[in-house]
Amino acid sequence: MVAKKFTACIVGVGRIGFSLQKDKKREQPASHSLALFKNKFVKIVAGCDIDENKLKNWKKIYKNANTYTNIHKMLEKESPDIVVIAVNEKNHLSIALEVIKNKPKLVILEKPVAPNPEQARLILRYSKKYKVPVSINHERRFSLDYLIVKNIIEKKQIGEIQSVFASFSSSATVYKVGSENIGDCSLIHDGTHLIDIINFLFNIKCANPKIDNMILNSKKDVESLNFHFKEKILDNNQKTMFYFEIAGNKKYFGFDIEIRGNKGKILIGNGYLKVYERKESPFYTGFYSLMRNKTIKRPKKTKYFSNMIENCINFLCKKEKLSSTIKSGIKTLNIIYRIIDKIKKIPHNSY
Ligand SMILES: NC(=O)c1ccc[n+]([C@@H]2O[C@H](COP(=O)([O-])OP(=O)(O)OC[C@H]3O[C@@H](n4cnc5c(N)ncnc54)[C@H](O)[C@@H]3O)[C@@H](O)[C@H]2O)c1
Repeated sequence: MVAKKFTACIVGVGRIGFSLQKDKKREQPASHSLALFKNKFVKIVAGCDIDENKLKNWKKIYKNANTYTNIHKMLEKESPDIVVIAVNEKNHLSIALEVIKNKPKLVILEKPVAPNPEQARLILRYSKKYKVPVSINHERRFSLDYLIVKNIIEKKQIGEIQSVFASFSSSATVYKVGSENIGDCSLIHDGTHLIDIINFLFNIKCANPKIDNMILNSKKDVESLNFHFKEKILDNNQKTMFYFEIAGNKKYFGFDIEIRGNKGKILIGNGYLKVYERKESPFYTGFYSLMRNKTIKRPKKTKYFSNMIENCINFLCKKEKLSSTIKSGIKTLNIIYRIIDKIKKIPHNSY
């Protein structure tokens, strides 16, 4: 028997929609197009982009699919089961509302849900009104290395978690006034990955984040930011400290998390996973030290993109719940905006 294929359209065939699949250094599939194409239960029926050149290049690979430069026209002609929205965040709202009204079985929306919580809540309202589920591509939730870490934490393999250090490093501006409308700062654009994965691992509230340090550049935009909060997580007896650094003054691209328990620690980030456990010390008689458990390795293929699509297909086949919902995406955005509120309350000349 031939398996049923879900039809899919992709809106936005830019980097994550398409061209990252050509990056030889990245783990593939690294684009929606290739991840959908590689899934045997999916048939790509159309691509849409306002940029005709990008669409032409996309069509060279996905020859059998239709192409559109206008979303209205695409939705008039096609009735896809799945619509991927991979346009720039300032256009998430308008495209998402348009797509949801067309009632596909599922929308896969790029992160962040929207540049601000108000827009994100409007997308949620439409999703409920038209009964169209929305999955958000917070990709680390699907990545095998992070799933290993979640399991270690839940099994208490490194004991009770006492502190977590999480950082995102790049050369991009961390926050500037006005980013709320377009999401063009790393706190919103990339911070969403960092906050979301910490929320996925620990189900944080981050009700009252405290800003520890803020460095401004000559334009008075935030160049680097440190904040922390403390709260009870899992079934721990004591509160856990969470420390964050979102740095824009680095000359490299980094995503790093250190999780410290009372019996071990985990280091995870882009390209690495290291787990250390309490063992009788080889250095000091009568003491315990943390030793690397080399049997726990980062899988060569983390399957971050293919697992996301697989979760969506399993959801459509009623076999699984969505792992990254619009509600979890909005929770992440709300946390980011609590931090932005705190930034705004600090007089800019005090730093
Ligand atoms: N999950 C991840 O790791 C990841 C990585 C990169 C980007 N993203 C997210 O994906 C989204 C797109 O980012 P990108 O880097 O691919 O950007 P991009 O600029 O490379 O691609 C966006 C594409 O959308 C098209 N577009 C814009 N408005 C449109 C419209 N109204 N109709 C049709 N097409 C339209 C643009 O022409 C462009 O080709 C953003 O939300 C970004 O945050 C996520």
